[in-house]
Amino acid sequence: MKKFFALLMAVMMLTVALTGCGAGNTDTTDASENGADTKVITVATNAYFPPYEFYDDNNEIVGIDMEIMQLICNKLGYEMKIEDMEFDTIIAAVQSGKAQVGAAGMTVTEDRLLEVNFSDTYTTAKQVIIVPEDSAIKSADDLTDKKIGVQLGTTGDIYISGDVEDGLYGNATVEQYQNGITAVQALSQGKIDAVIIDNEPAKVFVEQNEGLKILEAEYIEEEYAFAIAKDNTELLDEINATLADITASGELQAIVDKYITAE
Ligand code: ARG
Repeated sequence: MKKFFALLMAVMMLTVALTGCGAGNTDTTDASENGADTKVITVATNAYFPPYEFYDDNNEIVGIDMEIMQLICNKLGYEMKIEDMEFDTIIAAVQSGKAQVGAAGMTVTEDRLLEVNFSDTYTTAKQVIIVPEDSAIKSADDLTDKKIGVQLGTTGDIYISGDVEDGLYGNATVEQYQNGITAVQALSQGKIDAVIIDNEPAKVFVEQNEGLKILEAEYIEEEYAFAIAKDNTELLDEINATLADITASGELQAIVDKYITAE
């Protein structure tokens, strides 16, 4: 184990030395576990999260995360393959090497940082609360004794489940759905009282389902980044350098603007 660590350190230092000159580096030799000859990057996502990742009318997975990752792969000379999976399996897929990158509107959290590395953040987001238009719920404080819907394994789930378990919301219960839209549909049907989810998907879902609104009082602020295996620091450095490039050039913002119209 010690030996491995020493080797890892040596590789990391070498990587830093090699990529020190920054984004101009076109050496795409992939030292990841998937072999040096393949330049395919498998991107794990959960494609039920518009505008970050979703199926378009042609049944193709599109969205902000997918376009950012595609641009990064193009710049690095990698071929990108998308793998759609349940959100709560993405980190394990990245850890095991089944995927090299997790791109899923994924919030950086302390707990996840124990399992994977995160790239530099590429956007900020908020957890918001969706309720029926005529709901008496005005803020998180009114969630006491309510039925609250979330997408399983998301930060919305983790935060509210923790608070409910700690007894902060009386007899409130948390209903975990496999994806956000199913939670919102359950809300539309009156099966639950509120849904906690990220703000941009919330806007899309509220537009698609009549009679719902997003509360102005936000629940929690967070930041999104791409997840990469702890031992793949080479790819982490490459992605961060490219993210810096496409931020400076305005290409990243152009992708965001394509999907989110400024208010
Ligand atoms: N930002 C939240 C999280 O990281 C939700 C992300 C859900 N993403 C998705 N593609 N379904 O937990």
